[in-house]
Amino acid sequence: MKTPVPDYLNHVLSACHDNKKGALADYIPELASVNPDKLGLALSTVDGTIYSAGDDDVEFTMQSLSKPFAYALAIKELGLKQVLEKVGVEPSGEAFNQISLEKERNIPKNPMINSGAITTHSLIPAKKTVSRAEQLRRFLSGLAGRELSFDEQVYNSEIKTAFRNMSIGYMLRTVGVLDEDPKEIVHGYIKQCAIKVTVKDLAVITSILANGGVHPKTGKRMLDRALVRQLLSVMLTCGMYDAAGDWLTTVGIPAKSGVAGGIIGVLPGQVGIAVFSPKIDEHGNSVRGVRIFENLSHDMGLHLMEGTPSAQTILQSRYTVGKKNNVVVYELRGVLQFTESEMLLRILQDEPEGKSTIILDLTNLTLMHDVGARMLFEGVDRLKQDGHKVLVVDSEGLLDKDQLKGRKRVVVTEELEKFLEKYE
Ligand code: DON
Repeated sequence: MKTPVPDYLNHVLSACHDNKKGALADYIPELASVNPDKLGLALSTVDGTIYSAGDDDVEFTMQSLSKPFAYALAIKELGLKQVLEKVGVEPSGEAFNQISLEKERNIPKNPMINSGAITTHSLIPAKKTVSRAEQLRRFLSGLAGRELSFDEQVYNSEIKTAFRNMSIGYMLRTVGVLDEDPKEIVHGYIKQCAIKVTVKDLAVITSILANGGVHPKTGKRMLDRALVRQLLSVMLTCGMYDAAGDWLTTVGIPAKSGVAGGIIGVLPGQVGIAVFSPKIDEHGNSVRGVRIFENLSHDMGLHLMEGTPSAQTILQSRYTVGKKNNVVVYELRGVLQFTESEMLLRILQDEPEGKSTIILDLTNLTLMHDVGARMLFEGVDRLKQDGHKVLVVDSEGLLDKDQLKGRKRVVVTEELEKFLEKYE
């Protein structure tokens, strides 16, 4: 059988192919000469599968798609506290290039609008031999898994007409948000905007974000979980600028757009999506890109507020083994966050006091959140207090080092079937 997903993506593209609305971002002269008909789409799952359709190998400049990643790099290097002192997290409800500041603190309202992004760029620690834009290029190349490059023509072109960004830079210098030459910072920011990607690159990058910072293919942690949470929160509230409310109610996926026509979206725990179509609307968001996201969200039930019914499925099965049927196995499945853990503890509550061996099998769990681990072991302790012997089977190594702390004696890493042979 062939999965129908690629056909579906092609169908989504053809449904909006004839939409000619919008205009090229001609305030950057080089972008006025791109082919307006290009159209690409890629979708990644949290196990690292990538589907793509249309112009999926065409490179385009990230523009504002670079902003969340500069924010991530600044937080990674400086820590969130220091970054928050210079850039807020409030949606502005204004255009992306608005010359404005947060009233009380005189700092940019958020890192997704240009004033915040120019500031964020300046927060990437300066190095003598590696420019900030180059640091970001390397960081993004690491996430994408290939060497990305700059589009020098687009960079030089934007520099020539960067009057608005320059005025934002000088305003930031005036109020002390920037403490370096604003011209250099703005040039660096424009360079970061000129990093080239394809929708396939973006699908790889967004799969890492959707997977809580862990690369789905390699299993390597690329970004801190808390950092990903911060990033996606800001994308959700500010990523689509003054269309953020419209976007949240219709599409409901944390997202970021760029004036070259790219849009990325990340649905935590589920999918990463990237589209490219150069014509943009009055907010600076790709016209066909927005349509595609609306269709995908609607057809595939991807709206964040749809919620997941995972809490109903935490217990896959309960059965007993052993000659005296005194070994009770609980096979769990799905994700173990607060709601599921609460349900599990409620189920375990019905286990009568006694001297049974209780086995909690984690093999079919896909995610163990910290709160899940804490509540699971709380359950383990209480079952022990009731007189039971309790073992947790973690053959897939789902529990991380911190979650395992002090618990090693109750955790078994053998496969459940093998382990149960002892009781037959
Ligand atoms: O600073 C600018 O105006 C561009 N380099 C980037 C703006 C942008 O992509 C806005 N987003 N949709």
